[in-house]
Amino acid sequence: MKATAVAPANIALIKYWGKADEKLRLPLNDSISMNLSGAHTTTTVEFSDALTADEIPEALERERIVAHLDRIRSAAGMRLYATVTTRNSFPAAAGIASSASGFAALTLAGVTAAGLTMSEKELSILARMGSGSACRSIPDGFVLWEKGNSSGTSFARSLYPASYWDIRDILVIVSDEEKKIKSSAGMRGATTSPRLAARLSALPARIEKIRHALQHKDFAAFGSLVEEDCLDMHAVMQSQNPPLNYWSDETKKIMEDVKKRELPAYVTVDAGPNVHILCEAKDEARVVKRYSQYTLIINKPAHGAHLL
Ligand code: DP6
Repeated sequence: MKATAVAPANIALIKYWGKADEKLRLPLNDSISMNLSGAHTTTTVEFSDALTADEIPEALERERIVAHLDRIRSAAGMRLYATVTTRNSFPAAAGIASSASGFAALTLAGVTAAGLTMSEKELSILARMGSGSACRSIPDGFVLWEKGNSSGTSFARSLYPASYWDIRDILVIVSDEEKKIKSSAGMRGATTSPRLAARLSALPARIEKIRHALQHKDFAAFGSLVEEDCLDMHAVMQSQNPPLNYWSDETKKIMEDVKKRELPAYVTVDAGPNVHILCEAKDEARVVKRYSQYTLIINKPAHGAHLL
């Protein structure tokens, strides 16, 4: 009745922003991501008849985790409470997808501790209900989450394994403070943005292009599309009512510097101030040197969630 799982954070290359169904966490659009080798969560879940309530670390969102344990209990047809312990390899809630790695690890550890065996697809669906982006931290490497039109059709699958392409995501830690507005809350405002409709209609073509760039390992095309989608999502965020701005002055400074294109590197930012710089393995040392005044987490493409 006890299991430990590790799950990676993922960087969204094509971002998820906006829900079609808030409760089931069905997204408005497909998204694509890469699992990160240097940013992961390790979670242990132990069910026990000696407990009278779930024991969850205080720093975590208790209600959301209990709701997820309830989903697992109901799938397993049992009522035992659980002790959850968890550890991140990176600062929590700084917009580097701690909810993705967190809910992916909680899903796999919880399901296993409850004695269930689930397919990757079933795990991805369950993880999605905890946090949308968590469904992308279940499969290996480069991942596509198709929005689907029901809970059973909205899950992520691997497009290419982690070993497919030796690229880097150099994560520049601008701030390790907790972000003020969590993505779940921020995303509720997506439909107030006059730019959302244009984003949603541009996405199918952009997704096709980035899949083509991935297939041909065309890094310049890939990087440009990642940047384009990042700016597009942040334009939606910034034009919501009320507006949402996750960038600090430092974020903007680094983004502008990468965009000078003095190095063959591209930039993307999720719902927080930290900056992800994408480059090919051969350019890692030059990127690291240019941003060496910051704390950096160097990520390769990584495997999905797995048991310890
Ligand atoms: C900007 O997955 O954290 O990082 O489903 O409400 O838990 P919930 O949202 P979450 O949103 C992630 C938003 C993003 C883009 C992305 O990862 O695709």
